[in-house]
Amino acid sequence: MSRSGFIIAFFLIVFGCKKEEIPGTSSAATPYPFTTPVNLPAVEIPSNNPMTYEGIKLGKKLFYDKMLSGNNTLSCGSCHNQENGFTDNNKQFSFGINGEIGVRNSMPLFNLVYDRHFFWDGGASDLESQVAGPITNPIEMNQDIAELLQELNSHAEYPSLFKKAFGSLPITSNMVLKAIAQFERTMISSNSKFDKYMRNEVAFSEAEIRGMNLFNDMQKGDCNHCHMLGGTFTDYDFRNTGLDSVYADQGRFIITGLASDIGKFKTPSLRNIAVTAPYMHDGRFTTLTQCVEHYNTGFHYTQNLDPVLASSVKGRLNQNEISDIVAFLNTLTDTDFLNNPQFKKP
Ligand code: HEC
Ligand code: HEC
Repeated sequence: MSRSGFIIAFFLIVFGCKKEEIPGTSSAATPYPFTTPVNLPAVEIPSNNPMTYEGIKLGKKLFYDKMLSGNNTLSCGSCHNQENGFTDNNKQFSFGINGEIGVRNSMPLFNLVYDRHFFWDGGASDLESQVAGPITNPIEMNQDIAELLQELNSHAEYPSLFKKAFGSLPITSNMVLKAIAQFERTMISSNSKFDKYMRNEVAFSEAEIRGMNLFNDMQKGDCNHCHMLGGTFTDYDFRNTGLDSVYADQGRFIITGLASDIGKFKTPSLRNIAVTAPYMHDGRFTTLTQCVEHYNTGFHYTQNLDPVLASSVKGRLNQNEISDIVAFLNTLTDTDFLNNPQFKKP
């Protein structure tokens, strides 16, 4: 079953079989003031899951708790490691609880509050339903939700924490998803060297400046078309970048069934890109130079190749220009975020 299949199945279990009350926020919980992050656009928090300090704290505990997996060996944090921009420790594919291997590269987790589609194929459309994916996926955490709720409800600490955050008991799956989503929404990264440069706090080297200009230059890097410079560094669209002419993974097509979506994947942010190797949905590239080479000479002319690339000249970048672009990409690392104790494993 596809990941979205699992999500659908999960919601049938949650909402279909028994009528469950949608938890509100406990009136005793303290609202978390989500303010527009520096250098990022304004955003709205969904009104059906207001953020509270209690909810966020609980979400963090759950994010790092191995209890969430079927045999209590994996937490979300096992495949999403803070120092690597919350990707999986230089692994091409992640191992699930039974040592089974997935087929996609773990995605970075930050600035998720801006996303409207989750996973490489956009198979989940809000952060709350996204959480259900890895928990129930048999090659990831392979957890039976009823069993998890039983464990949580009979746990020494969890019931009181959930009560504080959501005001009612027993603990429901809805509350679990909401708490984790609240924590995820606090994970903001916008204090890289690039951000400091934009605020005139630091200077760029000549190579970094050249790289930034090439990134924007439509005749050269033309990266800006999809990974828009500044802000979140993504257009939030799905694009076919010509990685393959024969597809092992059909990407967005799996969700929409539209032939025009074959081989399209979510445009990832380029923030923290220097620490999230390997790259692309299947982790095929290990270095940033390889990524830039792909856009310069590597891409395949396929039917769905993005028009931006289809009109790009192969070999338009020389070796110096490639290394300048890489120098610029290296300015997007936000060490404050990667070391922020607020997100650290407890
Ligand atoms: C076994 C490793 C593994 C575990 C455990 C895991 N993830 Fe993931 N995560 C991945 C992979 C791989 C992807 C990309 C999957 C895809 O696109 O199909 C991903 C994608 C995501 C995304 C999508 C990001 C985006 O930009 O679209 C979010 C959010 C996420 N995971 C959060 C979580 C949370 C929360 C948990 C715990 C409940 C969790 N993950 C557990 C490996 C894992
Ligand atoms: C047509 C839109 C488009 C253009 C132009 C583009 N990218 Fe991408 N980029 C994407 C998409 C979509 C992906 C994900 C592709 C996949 O995994 O199948 C991606 C992936 C990447 C990745 C890997 C990210 C990760 O988390 O694994 C890097 C690095 C990258 N691009 C850098 C660049 C650079 C540098 C340029 C300019 C030379 C550029 N991109 C131009 C859309 C684009």
